Amino acid sequence: MTNSVMPTYGRLDVAFTKGEGAWLTDTTGRQYLDALSGIAVCNLGHAHPAVAQAISDQATTLIHTSNLYHIPLQTKLADKLTDLSGMEQVFFCNSGAEANEAAIKIARKYGHEKGIDKPVIIVMDSSFHGRTMATLTATGNAKVHAGFEPLVPGFVRVPYNDLDALRMAISHWPEAVAVMLEPVQGEGGVKIPDDDYLIAVRDLCTQHKVLMMVDEVQTGIGRTGKWFAFQYSEDVLPDVIMLAKGLGNGMPIGACLVAGNAVGILQAGNHGSTFGGNPLVCRAALVVLETIEKDNLLDNVNKLNNHIVDGFKQALAGQDKVKEIRSLGFMFGIELTVSCTELVQKALDKGILINVTADNVVRLLPPLMINMDEANKIVTMVSELIIDFLASQANENEA
Ligand SMILES: Cc1ncc(COP(=O)(O)O)c(C=O)c1O
Repeated sequence: MTNSVMPTYGRLDVAFTKGEGAWLTDTTGRQYLDALSGIAVCNLGHAHPAVAQAISDQATTLIHTSNLYHIPLQTKLADKLTDLSGMEQVFFCNSGAEANEAAIKIARKYGHEKGIDKPVIIVMDSSFHGRTMATLTATGNAKVHAGFEPLVPGFVRVPYNDLDALRMAISHWPEAVAVMLEPVQGEGGVKIPDDDYLIAVRDLCTQHKVLMMVDEVQTGIGRTGKWFAFQYSEDVLPDVIMLAKGLGNGMPIGACLVAGNAVGILQAGNHGSTFGGNPLVCRAALVVLETIEKDNLLDNVNKLNNHIVDGFKQALAGQDKVKEIRSLGFMFGIELTVSCTELVQKALDKGILINVTADNVVRLLPPLMINMDEANKIVTMVSELIIDFLASQANENEA
């Protein structure tokens, strides 16, 4: 189909007109179970009544004034986010890439204030941080870089979950000002580092006076069963965390939170955003956070995580092309030994929305509010898909 939208996405041939909870309805009236949440965005499900009510109330009261004035709802949201995270201050923007851009600017200015003219940020292989020039440079995926060179200077890359490599890089680069990483790599294939990895990264950063900047754009706001994934690592408080996606349940809001050495780096005139943290998005985000608390959604995630993983382990037992089933909270990755991108279309045909990342990892990011019945449906439908797909591949190879 040709149309006037720039073809930056390879889109599936379906359009949705309505959503309710974990279900979406397409233009023909067919229903689909959403096991992706708009890529970790609609954590409360679609058309959540409290979020819808708050947006509608706020739209008829005040949508936007500008950051030239105080915005009480922004202050309230910043207080809530700092309470939940242990961080100290918040800058609001509109997306994950922008939250990461703010972090990168903080790291560079922190370096300049220490007398480092050419600051270096250490980033990870197979990471994803966004599509702006600095965040695509930070991203550890050659496909994301291709065609946009020259990349932004001042980034060096090390393998993820490899402390020796990080230790060597920090010692090798006296200009190092920050380490930027995801606590679980989402786009990279639901890669979960060793239990003590972030603790050791924190220690190294503290020792070398380098900022620890944790990209929680996908993992944050309850996705992993804690408010923030870094909270799985005892006594770790990053200097910077970056949020977006689930914070607004679909309203575009991002945030860059600072603590410790990163506080006070950005001053008036150093950074900004016209829309960032306007009354409408802040009101929605406040209700998102309240609802996660009120409905005990972190408990729901933790309870259903075991159930879903056990279900997959049972259903996929004996499938020798299923390499590993990984999860933290409601981030699930089922790694196959073969490329499986075609499963996305097959899943859609079956009536469920899933994603395949890193070519061979089935990724599921269901809304945090699904019930037991929906969890069972996800396990049954996705297991069937994988089993049928692997069987059809085996038949093809025999023919
Ligand atoms: C970890 C991470 N960081 C940053 C981004 C970019 O966020 P956005 O698309 O809102 O710019 C994403 C998006 O998938 C992400 O997963």
